[in-house]
This record gives sequence, C-alpha cells and structure tokens, in this order.
Amino acid sequence: MIFESHAHYDDEAFDPDRRELLEECRAQGIEYIVNVSASLQSVKTTLALADSYDFIYAAAGVHPSEVGELNEESFTWLKEQCRHPRTVAVGEIGLDYYWDKENHETQKYWFQRQLELAKELELPIIVHSRDACADTLEEIKKAHTPELRGVIHCFSYAPEIAREYLDMGYYIGVGGVVTFKNAKKLKEVVKMLPPERILLETDCPYLAPVPYRGKRNSSLNLPYVAAAVAELKGMETEEVIRITNENARKLYFQGRGL
Ligand code: NI
Repeated sequence: MIFESHAHYDDEAFDPDRRELLEECRAQGIEYIVNVSASLQSVKTTLALADSYDFIYAAAGVHPSEVGELNEESFTWLKEQCRHPRTVAVGEIGLDYYWDKENHETQKYWFQRQLELAKELELPIIVHSRDACADTLEEIKKAHTPELRGVIHCFSYAPEIAREYLDMGYYIGVGGVVTFKNAKKLKEVVKMLPPERILLETDCPYLAPVPYRGKRNSSLNLPYVAAAVAELKGMETEEVIRITNENARKLYFQGRGL
C-alpha cells in the first residue's frame, strides 16, 4: 500500500472528477494521502477534504509565495487550524526565490514563524525550497532542535545538501522528477539516500512522471516514481513502496496510534 506524502487535491484541476479520482486512488492501493495547503484559503479546502475522507490528512501552512497574506490575526487563525485533529504537519512552508513573489526578508520571517509554530505544536514540517538552497538550510539550522522533524519536499539540490538534511534527521521527498531523463542531480541524490529516509510524493496536479509528463498528475502515478527509485537503489518496487509507507507513517502519525 502506497503512502502519498504530498498532494493538492483541493486544486481546481480536480474539480471535474475529484470524488471519482479519490475513490479510484483508494481502490488502487493508495492507503493514505497528506493533502498539503499553500494559502489560507487552501488550509480551509484541505481541512474540508480531510474531514470528508478518512484516508486523507491535512498539512496546514502558507507557501513562501503567499506569505503576504499573513499577519498576526491570520497567523492566530492558522495556529488554530494546526490544532485540528486531522492536521498532521505544518506545510508547505519555506523559501521560493524562483517565483520571488515576496521579498526575501518577508519570506524568511514567516518561514521562521511557522517553524516556531511546528515546534510549539510538536508537528512535523513540510518544506518547499526553490532556488533558495543556502538560505533554506541556514533558516532551518537556526530553528532546528533534535525534536523538530520533517521532509524537504520535491528535493532539487545536490547530494551534499541532502547529506546536511539527513544529518539533522529530515526526510527527503521524491516525486515524478526522478523519472525525467534530464534529472541527473536528483538521481544522484536518490542513489545516496538511505531508503528509510525517502518519502514518495506527487505534488499533484503538478510534476507527473514519465510516461505522463506534462499531464495532470495524481497519486495513481506513484508506482512509476517507486519503480524509478527502486531501479536507482537496486531494490524491488514493492520494497520501496513498503519502506516509504513506513517512513511516512513515522513522520506524520507518530504518537497518533495509526
Ligand atoms: Ni506542493
């Protein structure tokens, strides 16, 4: 059974067939899904999904491109949503210097505030980092404690950077990009990752793996990601699915008795 560690099923791309698709996921062996929010509005829609489906859990947080909507009042509201019984992580949070929608100091400020929130509530973090390698590492090191756990989702940096995150105890999220021919760096990273630190993710509707690259993605495509990881690791696909499922349970469900 597959654990989908990062999806966006509240995205409008799923409006035409969301219920049918989610039922199909369940029928095709997707055991759990963590639906990840990116804005205050998507915290609401993510929790609505988690309230409607017993196999979907929520991550509540504000993406670096959306942090302009945060202030003390909305941050207090976000904190309440993080206490919701279906919320299993704070995310996605981080730094994005590719889209660069908010200035870097604003992004860092709200990243730190959300890191502190995760520590206070003892929730794992889901980190988004794009073209912000050095600053993300610096901000996480600033906030890091042995108790703080999390995943660096859609990992796109070099093996040496992955090593730094592994040394702090973090998981590395691997998705459809690993199936792309030109993803040399990520393939090198996957080769060096211990299997017990990998999470499978889609980031759907984005980043569909080969042979569906460019199409709407869904958790139904996760076996392609698992197979690509298995090939790089010299493992069986079923073994990758089993170990990454255990990893995700440890990260998201620790202390929840699931
Ligand atoms: Ni995402």
